[in-house]
Amino acid sequence: MDTHIPVLLREVVEALNPKDGGVYIDATFGGGGYTRALLQAKNCKVIGIDRDPDAAIRANSFKQEFKDRFEFISGVFSELDTLLPRNQTYDGIVFDFGVSSFQLDQAERGFSFRFDGPLDMRMSKDQGGLTAAEILNTYPENQLAEIIYVYGEEKKSRIIAKTIVEQRKTKPLETTQEFAKLVRSIVKRHDGIDPATLTFQALRIFVNNELIEIDTSLKKTVNLLSVGGKVITVTFHSLEDRLVKNWMRANAFACTRPGYALKTLFSKPVSPSLDEVKANPRSRSAKMRVAALIPLNIKGTPI
Ligand SMILES: C[S@@+](CC[C@H](N)C(=O)[O-])C[C@H]1O[C@@H](n2cnc3c(N)ncnc32)[C@H](O)[C@@H]1O
Repeated sequence: MDTHIPVLLREVVEALNPKDGGVYIDATFGGGGYTRALLQAKNCKVIGIDRDPDAAIRANSFKQEFKDRFEFISGVFSELDTLLPRNQTYDGIVFDFGVSSFQLDQAERGFSFRFDGPLDMRMSKDQGGLTAAEILNTYPENQLAEIIYVYGEEKKSRIIAKTIVEQRKTKPLETTQEFAKLVRSIVKRHDGIDPATLTFQALRIFVNNELIEIDTSLKKTVNLLSVGGKVITVTFHSLEDRLVKNWMRANAFACTRPGYALKTLFSKPVSPSLDEVKANPRSRSAKMRVAALIPLNIKGTPI
C-alpha cells in the first residue's frame, strides 16, 4: 500500500477545532493526514514531527503546497521541548501513536509478519538503535521473555524466548517469516488473529522504545500548550491507552506546570464508527482521548 488512511480524522479535527492564526503540532506526521486536514480547515499553521526519514521526504510536498503555514522537524517526540522553538506555546498537540501503513506495508522495514523482510523494525531506519534481529540474536533468554511478556502481554513468552535461543545456536534469526513461523509453532489462536501478532508488537515497542517515548512526551506537553490548548491522542492498544488515561487522570487537579491542570473532554475514549472500521480495518482498536490545559484558581479549582 502506498498510502496511509488517517484514523478518526473527522473526530480529531473536530476535537481540536482549529482556528485562524492558531499553531498546532502534529507530533506523528506520518503521511500528513491530520496536518492536511487542519491546514485545509482553517488559515492556521502546523508543525509536523516524525522520526522516520521517509516521512521527512513526504513532508517536502507539504512545504511546497502550504509554504510558511507548514514546517517539518525530524526527530523523536520525547524531545518535543528541544525540537521546538523556545518560549512558544501551541493551541494543540496531536499524537497518532504506533506505525503507519507506509511502514507496515514495506516488507524491507521488517514490521509485518504478512511479508518477508529483514527483521529491522526501526522507525528511524539507520539513524540509531538496534534492529529486531540484533535483539533477538544477542539478548539473554530471560530478557527476551520479559520483553515479549511486558510489551506483548503474550502468555507464551517464556517458551518463545527459549525457542529463540535454541534456534539461534544453529542459525541467527534474519527474516520476519522465519520469526513468525517460530512464534506460530508455539502460539495457537482461534480468533482469526495471527498468532505472531503480540510477539511482533512487543518487539516493535521495544526496538522503538515506544512506551517511554509516550510517557516522556506527554509530561512535556503541559509546558508547550497555550491556556485552553488541547492534547489529543490516538492509541491502538491497551498499553498505550493506559499510559494516556493514567496521565490525564494524574494531571486532573494539578500538573507539573504550577497553577494549571488538565481537563479531560470526553468521559470515555472516542472509538471509530462501524463505517470507519469497515472502510479501514486498521482503525478497529483506535481510541481517541482529549484534554485541555486549564488554569486553576488559588483554591486549586478550575477557573
Ligand atoms: C500512525 S502514524 C501517523 C499517521 C498520520 N497521523 C497520518 O495521518 O498520516 C505514526 C507516525 O509516528 C511516527 N512516530 C512514532 N513514534 C514516534 C516518536 N517517538 N517520535 C516521532 N515520530 C514517531 C512514526 O514514524 C509514524 O510515521
